Amino acid sequence: MSAAGWSLKSLPDMSEQQFLLWQQLLETRTGIFVTEQRKSYLQSSLMQRMRELEYDDYQVFYDHIVNSPMGKIEWLKLVDRLTVQETRFFRDPAAFKYVAQYIKDRQAKFDKKNPLDIWSVGCSSGEEVYSLAMLSQEVLKPFNKTKFCMVTGTDISVPVLNKARQGIYSQRRIDLLSEHYKENYFSTLDAGQSEIVAGIKYNTCFAQVNILQLDEVAKSLRDIIYCQNVLIYFRRWRRQEILNHLVERLSPGGLLLIGMGEMVDWHHPELESVKGHQVTAFIKRAGHKNH
Ligand SMILES: C[S@@+](CC[C@H](N)C(=O)[O-])C[C@H]1O[C@@H](n2cnc3c(N)ncnc32)[C@H](O)[C@@H]1O
Repeated sequence: MSAAGWSLKSLPDMSEQQFLLWQQLLETRTGIFVTEQRKSYLQSSLMQRMRELEYDDYQVFYDHIVNSPMGKIEWLKLVDRLTVQETRFFRDPAAFKYVAQYIKDRQAKFDKKNPLDIWSVGCSSGEEVYSLAMLSQEVLKPFNKTKFCMVTGTDISVPVLNKARQGIYSQRRIDLLSEHYKENYFSTLDAGQSEIVAGIKYNTCFAQVNILQLDEVAKSLRDIIYCQNVLIYFRRWRRQEILNHLVERLSPGGLLLIGMGEMVDWHHPELESVKGHQVTAFIKRAGHKNH
């Protein structure tokens, strides 16, 4: 059958048994728990990739992913399709406002030897990382400290990280930003696209990290850990485990910021929760060193 024929062919619905297999595979490898209600999302994402590869049986495709040597390579692409990557610049204005205040209050601490160190966990295509980098520039500019800042973005998906590194966005995505940000931090390219300027890219870096494997990540201490709209896809016990790892990588006095409602009624002995700023954020108590 021609490639066009394949792309039009509709695949049968997944059986309950196949759904359970895929659900378990995704959760074991990424932590993402697909509920029964989101079965159609899983199915259509898989279907899309199976069509491209001319598979018409979920079980055969599953065996390929799990048992064949090429399955490991295919998984890197598939995971990009199975994760939700929705993001945008300054997605949560209250959170960014709080981050700006936090940096301003502590700017005296940041210098060449101790640059402001921010980590965006589950950064998708980079908008969150660049928002944090632009915001830091704005706050640190009056203190001549714009160079003393580094934002690291990590994600499980290699394709989104490549996009993030490029830092090229459609006009539609940057239209949401103020004129000041557009003028100062983007250069216009052809075809309705704009690119993050080199000065901001210089303050950022990207790496693949699966948050299920945080124990493999060096325990360097960050000033700010920003983790929004990622934990929401995980079961509560896993969210708790991940947050514990993040706390170990937060400097004393450091800020951990998660999405509103992503971890209700969670307490950690080393953290104090931030009240009254419409954010779900925590400050690590000073005096707490890493174990
Ligand atoms: C909805 S996006 C959130 C992007 C950004 N943080 C925001 O709030 O706009 C979720 C991101 O988490 C990533 N992700 C999902 N599971 C992950 C895992 N196990 N390890 C690292 N990143 C993961 C996805 O690839 C996706 O890019």
